[in-house]
Amino acid sequence: MFRCLHRGSNLLTGVFNASLLRTSANTVSILETKTGRKSAINDNTRSISTTPLPEFDKDGLKSHDDLYRLSIEKPDYFWGTLARSRLQWYEDFSLTKDCDMKSGHIRWFLDGKINASVNCVDRHAESSPDKIAMIWEKDEPGTQEYVTYREFQKLLCKMSNVLEGHGVKQGDRVAIYMPKSPTAVAAMLACARIGAIHSVVFAGFSAEALAGRIMDAQVETVITADQGVRGGKIIDLKKVVDDAVQTCPCVKRVFVYQRTGNEVPMSNIDINLDKELESASDSHTPAVLDSEDLLFMLYTSGSTGKPKGIAHSQAGYLLYANMTMKHVFDYKEGETFGCVADIGWITGHSYVVYGPLSNGATTLLFESTPVYPDPGRYWEMVERLKLNHIYLAPTALRMLLKNGDEWVLKYDRSSLRKLGCVGEPLNNEAWDWYYNVVGEGRCDICDTWWQTETGGIAITPRPSSPDAEIRPAMPMRPFFGIEPVLLDPVTKQELTGGNVKGALCVRHPWPGMARTIYGDHDRFLKTYYADYPGFYFSGDGAYRTQDGYYQITGRMDDVLNVSGHRLGTAEIEDVIDDHEDVAESAVVGFPHEIKGEGIYAFVVLKDRVSKSEEELMSDLKHACKSRVSSFAQPDFILLTPGLPKTRSGKIMRRILRKIAANKPDELGDVSTLFDPSIVEILVDKHQQSL
Ligand code: WTA
Repeated sequence: MFRCLHRGSNLLTGVFNASLLRTSANTVSILETKTGRKSAINDNTRSISTTPLPEFDKDGLKSHDDLYRLSIEKPDYFWGTLARSRLQWYEDFSLTKDCDMKSGHIRWFLDGKINASVNCVDRHAESSPDKIAMIWEKDEPGTQEYVTYREFQKLLCKMSNVLEGHGVKQGDRVAIYMPKSPTAVAAMLACARIGAIHSVVFAGFSAEALAGRIMDAQVETVITADQGVRGGKIIDLKKVVDDAVQTCPCVKRVFVYQRTGNEVPMSNIDINLDKELESASDSHTPAVLDSEDLLFMLYTSGSTGKPKGIAHSQAGYLLYANMTMKHVFDYKEGETFGCVADIGWITGHSYVVYGPLSNGATTLLFESTPVYPDPGRYWEMVERLKLNHIYLAPTALRMLLKNGDEWVLKYDRSSLRKLGCVGEPLNNEAWDWYYNVVGEGRCDICDTWWQTETGGIAITPRPSSPDAEIRPAMPMRPFFGIEPVLLDPVTKQELTGGNVKGALCVRHPWPGMARTIYGDHDRFLKTYYADYPGFYFSGDGAYRTQDGYYQITGRMDDVLNVSGHRLGTAEIEDVIDDHEDVAESAVVGFPHEIKGEGIYAFVVLKDRVSKSEEELMSDLKHACKSRVSSFAQPDFILLTPGLPKTRSGKIMRRILRKIAANKPDELGDVSTLFDPSIVEILVDKHQQSL
């Protein structure tokens, strides 16, 4: 049962909270009722595409441009007001922010006391217990399960009691390696409830990748499932965890949830989660947490070194996920929001869990794949579940469009209002298909640019004035509070005006930005704040059009984006170099029709090798799959006698990228190479291998 929130200890806070609880419960829904929800949902026109912020009506600010200006000019007032009206607090914050972009010191809503799980679950379980919190769209179409806020609250409380009962406490790191399911979301939010920091690891990562993440955060508790089910196939998740924990002495307990119920070996550290949940109490008192206590970490690839645990804190992240979900997609009370991303990625965190649930929405937990049992899966699901929004990856769109329009057209998509995408550039062809075929030319396309580090969407066409144009293939406009800046990578000078290209940075802090890299704050500062002092540097390049719209030009570092998954070239090279027959390697990306970017590995063998070329290639692909993940497998491996290097021994990746992209006439100046003749050999070998 939901317990009453503690009142603040001083009079001011107590008074404040009383009125706060009133406004936070009422403001938004009253306004939504006023706008006439029914007609809004049925009226699929552009004219409803923005929801101005009612909090600033009293200031006479109603247009999007006015509100955006306010968010930039008076960020403390803007975010402070929204934090108080959109979130429920135990104690008000004393200061909206304490941030310094020069030193990477980021703090929001100081001294505020809050609990994210209460904001995502309890307050809705109180006000609308029978509302559907989530639809679990299981692998087999037509087998979906609906979970109300009240039911989910019970599961959440049970999970919190189980974790606490086994000694999990505030500040502990908990690794979650699970398929998308209400139990997995409950595991995340139970951590949030007791103040433990969850680290969800995508349940497609290998045992070695999982072990690396467990060890880095010194995780004692792992939550997993017996097996996963995806695309009609069974995935032995517990086995991966068993292999991983063998090399992780820090792990003390592994909770095993039964997704399939098939028997799996259990050791003395394994705990049957279902049994524990059954007997646990369904009432739990949430921890009162500080705004800046860490909420979760999520590993992502950098250009060098091992994946980094990007850490987000409680209140700022939650507010930003809440605001972006509602306003980018113009979410309206009663709608069903369908983000198909896995919870192992930031998109799943912000737009499957924290954004939708903190808004009291009905969220989709999609367990399957876009092509199971056939390429009509998404659209059949849209019809069956009456999804109002779908948020997906361009790579899936590109794959689906190749299968033909008939897979879309045979299903009723009239429930759809907004079509979102994220993770990589949405090319013109895919945009056009999404807009005209899927959306019948009546749904806004929200091409959203953001990152694990930004916590939520940072650049996207909406919100904006209702009649403002949306252009294909670019995220266009900054969200509230975001002021993008383009800087020259050489002079580090700010590039002003339109028609310029540079390093994509952000000028002012926003609540959802990452606070640190877990256990390595120096790396955090070096990665995001050192190259362009005074700004947050995203690692991406961008182009600003004459009209001031933003288009992402891609990573400026050695990070690949394969089907929307970030991969460091160094991660793949490490695996390849470990092979006994390999002397060295260099991995680059190349344009790939479906995946956006493919992986091309140039590999130099030792003088004496023990295997045939064919065996070696297969070994290397297998090693990448089993040590990182299946999406880390090179599409292309070229065995070469050497790599193009400068006199100081630095590999000239620029040249390798051109060869991989099949553009030998754009190699540029190769005279600075230690041995320029290697280039010709590489070009020949590449041509022969095509
Ligand atoms: C890329 C995913 C072009 C970009 C939410 C970024 C995009 C990286 C877009 C972050 C987009 C994301 N257009 N590129 N709309 N959205 N990216 O951390 O390179 O998994 O830096 O977060 O994906 O990937 P991450």
